[in-house]
Amino acid sequence: MVENRAPATTLGRGFWIATTVIALLALAAIVFWSYTSLRIVMPPVAAQPGGEIDVLFRFMAATASAIMIVVAGYLIYFMIAFRARKTDPPDAIGVQIHDNHKLELWWTIIPTLLVVILSVWSVKVWYAIQIAQPTNGLVVESIGHQWYFTFRYPQIHGEITGEMHLPVNQPVVMNVTSADVIHSFWVPQFRLKADMVPGLINTIRFTPTKVGRYPIVCTEFCGTNHGLMSGNMPTWQGKPNPGAQYLVVDTPADFEKWYHGWQVKNAHASDAIATVSTGTISLAGGDAKAGQALFAQKCSACHAIAPFSQRVVGPGLKGLLDDPQHPNLVDGDKATPANIATILQNGYKGDIGQMPNQAANNLSDKDIANLVAYLSSLK
Ligand code: CUA
Repeated sequence: MVENRAPATTLGRGFWIATTVIALLALAAIVFWSYTSLRIVMPPVAAQPGGEIDVLFRFMAATASAIMIVVAGYLIYFMIAFRARKTDPPDAIGVQIHDNHKLELWWTIIPTLLVVILSVWSVKVWYAIQIAQPTNGLVVESIGHQWYFTFRYPQIHGEITGEMHLPVNQPVVMNVTSADVIHSFWVPQFRLKADMVPGLINTIRFTPTKVGRYPIVCTEFCGTNHGLMSGNMPTWQGKPNPGAQYLVVDTPADFEKWYHGWQVKNAHASDAIATVSTGTISLAGGDAKAGQALFAQKCSACHAIAPFSQRVVGPGLKGLLDDPQHPNLVDGDKATPANIATILQNGYKGDIGQMPNQAANNLSDKDIANLVAYLSSLK
C-alpha cells in the first residue's frame, strides 16, 4: 500500500555536495573544450572555412559534455542515495512526486535555448561553407571510382590519377561526382565532405591555407575495398595500398610545376572519362619477376593467384592461359597474352564486376608487358 501523505524530499547535505561536485566537473568540461588543442580529436585545420566548424565543434562538445556530466552525475548520486536498504520492507517504493513546475520550466527553457543557439549558429556556418565562399576560384573535379579517386583540371587533358595538387591560399571550386556507386570525398584537415553520386555534381568551395600533404578519405560505404580508399591507410597487409591517395597543397611555384608536368604528360590523353585503348602494347621483353612484384603491389588487393572461382574482388588468375574450365577471358576473348594485355589496357566492366583501365591503375606499357609475362608463367 502506498502511504497517502505529502511527499517529503529528503535532499540533505549529500545532495548539495553532489551538486557542487557536478557543477565543478561540468564547468571543468566547458573550460576544457573551450581551450584544449583540438588535435586530441582531429588533425589541425588546413583550409577555410574549416576554422568555423572547429569553433562550432568546441561549443557542441562543451555543452554536450556538461549535459552528460549533469545527467549521469545525478543519476549516479540518486542511485546511491536512494538505494534499497536492508531495513526496508520488501514492498517499499520511493517517495512518489508529481509535478514540479519550477523544474519543468527550467528543463524546458534551457534545452530550448540551446537548440535555438545551435540552429542559428549552424545556419551561420552553413552559410559560410555553402554561400559565402568565392565562386571564381580554380575549378577542379574529382570523380569517385571503385576504389580510387581521379581528378580533372582545366587545361589538362584526361584524368589525373594518384595525388591531387592545389595551390595554397587560392580559392577552389571543387565539383565531385562518381563513375559507379556512391562515394564521399573527405579531407579531414579541410573539414569538408561531399557525397559523390553518379549522375549528380556536388560542389564544395574552400581555400587551402597550409602547405602540406593531406589524406583523402572515402566516407560512404562503396563495396569490398571501401576501407582501402583512404590516405590514412598507406599500407594494408604489409603492402602499399594503391587506394591511399593524398591532396597536396603546394606553394604557387610548386603547383605550377606539377600542373605543367601533367599538361605535358597528358597532352594526348582523351578527355572522355571512358578511355579506350589507342594502340597495341608490345609484349616483347616482359619480365615475369618484375611482373610478380607489380602484381603484389597493384593487383593482389582484388585478385588471388588461385583458380578462377576463388574470387577476392575479381577472379583468381592462376593458369589463366590454360584453364579448361575457362578457355576464354572474362570479356569472352580467347585466353592469349595479347588479349590479357587488352584487358589491362582498357579495364573491364561486366557481370562479374569491373576493373580500372591502364591510366587509372597508373601502369606503363612496360608494366603491362611484365604483368602479362608473370601471369603467363603461372601454369
Ligand atoms: Cu569509395 Cu567508400
